Amino acid sequence: MNLTRRLLLINLGLLLAAALLGYALWREPQRLASDSVAWRARAAERGAVLYEDACTECHGVHGEGLVGPALNAPDLLHGEDPGRLPPRLQARGWRGDLPSFLMATIANGRPGSKMPGWAQTAGGPLTPSQIDDLVAFLLTWRDAEPTPSPFARPQSLHQRSAGLGYYLFHGPLGCADCHAFDNAAGVVGPELTGVVARLGRDAVRNAIINPNDHLAPGYAPRIMPETFAYALSENQIRSLLDYLEHPENAALQVAPLERSEKDQALWGKMVADGAGCFGCHTVDGTASDGPTFLGLYGQTRTLDDGVVVVADDDYLYESIVSPSAKQVAGYPDIMDQDYGFRLSEDDIRAVIAYIKTLR
Ligand code: HEC
Ligand code: HEC
Ligand code: HEC
Repeated sequence: MNLTRRLLLINLGLLLAAALLGYALWREPQRLASDSVAWRARAAERGAVLYEDACTECHGVHGEGLVGPALNAPDLLHGEDPGRLPPRLQARGWRGDLPSFLMATIANGRPGSKMPGWAQTAGGPLTPSQIDDLVAFLLTWRDAEPTPSPFARPQSLHQRSAGLGYYLFHGPLGCADCHAFDNAAGVVGPELTGVVARLGRDAVRNAIINPNDHLAPGYAPRIMPETFAYALSENQIRSLLDYLEHPENAALQVAPLERSEKDQALWGKMVADGAGCFGCHTVDGTASDGPTFLGLYGQTRTLDDGVVVVADDDYLYESIVSPSAKQVAGYPDIMDQDYGFRLSEDDIRAVIAYIKTLR
């Protein structure tokens, strides 16, 4: 199927996904603050529909990367210091800003890679204003609270395993957004528990790559995306089937998320920013409602009961998930108590990695 046709295949599923994304965007309160902000939000909503249709199969539903690199990634969206370009732009010697980088890459693609040029001038299907819309959408990942994929990414995206199937199903392919299965609660498509035992592997494979061939009873055609046959490798399809057949095997095979130390710290900074830590903690040594993070790691802390402790990993972890357990002398007990629920384990580790860099 050619890209232009697929682009025009705006089916009900995509509209639904767009509505969900649109809702998420409109929830951002600052987005409603002014007309130009509202205009940008509308552009981003249009961009979300385009992204969903043309980009997810290679870059993932949440921009976590699949065939193409992750786009919802700190080293693409954030400079290390204010005023400095994100590391990926520096690595390419880019002289403009982030929006112009995104615009140029989307318009022209990367010759010699799988990234096609999307602008009509480069033989693609998109107008300049549609490319603007896509850029506006990608920038919402920079401006919004970070939403890291809650799923550990397997070591290889190409080696067959139930763990890879789990990752694809709950992560970049968005199956879990529509189907109930193994803790996913989707209601758009049929419940998939026991589906392989019921229909057999061949029929399930066909349901994934030719969704309109045989419809599940009671469901309308053209809701399930038709791009999986194009986007997925044989090993990825087999991995999905392995997972649907034996979800219990997946947990054993999913390795923890791996990031470089630098990425981990950048991610931690985004998490801390999104979680509002900087409302009470500075990173430059100045006083605020809470102690500064600057130089905190490894320092001795005097608690309100006179006990002296060292601010090591365990202390920082405890300070974040149970702030009242150890009270720093001279400060009130005002820190939110629910970060342990709001942040994933991985996010908390990233915040600690970030605090460590503040020396
Ligand atoms: C067929 C797969 C494919 C599709 C579809 C695709 N991309 Fe890509 N994209 C890639 C690959 C592969 C790269 C990395 C190219 C390289 O090697 O430099 C890439 C790179 C990028 C980059 C640069 C990232 C960086 O780290 O420099 C951006 C931005 C991007 N794509 C956006 C998009 C958008 C937006 C869409 C949808 C309109 C899209 N892509 C559709 C495969 C794809
Ligand atoms: C946008 C919503 C949506 C997404 C995303 C989606 N599906 Fe579906 N799926 C449906 C709908 C609706 C049906 C029922 C209509 C049909 O059979 O095509 C369906 C049917 C199925 C069936 C047949 C079930 C039966 O009882 O006959 C299987 C298997 C399936 N999907 C697996 C997947 C997998 C695996 C993924 C991810 C790679 C996925 N789906 C992604 C909506 C979706
Ligand atoms: C409403 C204000 C507030 C917010 C928001 C807040 N904190 Fe705190 N935090 C404090 C105060 C006050 C203290 C010192 C009293 C105590 O130990 O609870 C503190 C203590 C800490 C400590 C121990 C510091 C030390 O000097 O020993 C760490 C680490 C910490 N916070 C991390 C965080 C992180 C990470 C976030 C965001 C996820 C956060 N805080 C959000 C007010 C806040």
